[in-house]
Formats: sequence, C-alpha cells, structure tokens
Amino acid sequence: MSDVVAVKDLTKTYRLGTQTVTALAEVSLTVHAGEFMAVAGPSGSGKTTLLNLIGCLDTPTSGEIAIDGEPVARLSSTRRADLRARKLGFIFQTFNLIPVLTAWENVEYPLLIHRRGGEIGPRVRRALEQVGLAERARHRPPELSGGQQQRVAIARALVTEPALVLADEPTANLDSATGREIVDLMRRLNRERGTTFVFSTHDPRIMAAADRVVQISDGRVQA
Ligand SMILES: Nc1ncnc2c1ncn2[C@@H]1O[C@H](COP(=O)(O)OP(=O)(O)O)[C@@H](O)[C@H]1O
Ligand SMILES: [Mg+2]
Repeated sequence: MSDVVAVKDLTKTYRLGTQTVTALAEVSLTVHAGEFMAVAGPSGSGKTTLLNLIGCLDTPTSGEIAIDGEPVARLSSTRRADLRARKLGFIFQTFNLIPVLTAWENVEYPLLIHRRGGEIGPRVRRALEQVGLAERARHRPPELSGGQQQRVAIARALVTEPALVLADEPTANLDSATGREIVDLMRRLNRERGTTFVFSTHDPRIMAAADRVVQISDGRVQA
C-alpha cells in the first residue's frame, strides 16, 4: 500500500519569551492509503500541532513531511495553500462553517474556489446525501444542531475528493451519542469512498473506531 502521509523526525518548537516549548519531538509515522487512524493523547500532548503540520497549515522546525509522495515541509505558503486545495480536507472541533451561507453553499464553497471543472451541483447534492442532510440543504448553520453542522463540515471536507481528511477533535464539542454518530459516519465514508482519515481525540470510545491508534504524550509518539 502507498503512503498518503510520511513524517520523519518531525520537531516543532515554539518560542515564548525566553522559553522554548517543544510541542513535537522527532515524530516519525506513516499513514497508508485508505486508513482510518486516530491520534490520541491528553490536552497539550501535541495533537493539534501534528495535524496542522500534516495539513500544511504550519511548517516544522525540522524534519520531513510528504503528502501523497510530495515533500511539503519547506514549501512557500502559496504552494502549501495549493497543496491543501488539491489534496486535503479539514474537519474542526468547532465546525467552522460560514454562518451566513446555507448548508448547500458551505459545501459548494471549496468547489467554487478550486475551479476544477465539471458540474458542481450534482457533487454538492451527492455530498449532502452521503451525510444524510439533503433535506437541510437550505438551512444556515445557526438553524442546525451541532451534529448536523459537523455533518455539513464533513460533506464540505469530502466534496473535493481529497487524498486525506484531517479531523482535529471532531467530536469534542458534541454529546457522546452524537460524537459516536459522527465518528461512525466518518468511518462509513472512509469505507465507501476509500478516503484516508487522520483524526485526533482523547475519548477512548472514539479511538475504538480506528484501524490504528497512535498515542502521543509530551510531543512524542509512544511505541
Ligand atoms: N502557538 C503556540 N505558541 C506556543 N506554544 C504552543 C503554541 N501552540 C501549541 N503550543 C504548545 O505546544 C504543546 C502542544 O499543543 P497542542 O498541539 O495544541 O496540543 P493538543 O492539541 O494535544 O492539546 C502545548 O504545550 C502547547 O501549549
Ligand atoms: Mg488540540
């Protein structure tokens, strides 16, 4: 199987005044195509830092990252933005939908920006159907429950058919039953579409859905 993510000796330090905070220390890991992988660890362990580096939202202090075979650790911000648009989808803890746009418009948005050709309407409809929200297409986020908003965010992440979806604590703002539904939905889409997922959590019940759990603490992967 090919690797969608290959990370080698990844280190990220932050400077806080005179102090240096090591958020990630020499992390190496790979994620195979089609995997449904969890990154688990307590608050402050480095989960967001790792996902943001894999997601080309930030650059490492040292180390290598390849996404779908492309080295990305030292790309310019423009090239990183281009790579994000071509290869990645994001799901956030706080959903991050645009509140003035309808569910349909939120899902359509990345397709309008990326202009990859082809018909947009059928793709938006299919993505909303796959998350069970076809009937809510005209609703705006404030008219939807948290679980429904996260479903819209999942449709938005998948509509561009990314090689990899990154989800940073996607269930942390939901009650446990809804959180479970969301992770089950991601799992089903992973199986049906073959999309690779990396998600972070500190909830053992959410971790249980993963093919593989990578534990991190104090910025280090636990063997
Ligand atoms: N921008 C930043 N500046 C300074 N320290 C940071 C910054 N972002 C994260 N950190 C620190 O890096 C460590 C890992 O943080 P983070 O990746 O957010 O962990 P998690 O997502 O597991 O809670 C923590 O000690 C955090 O305080
Ligand atoms: Mg975090």
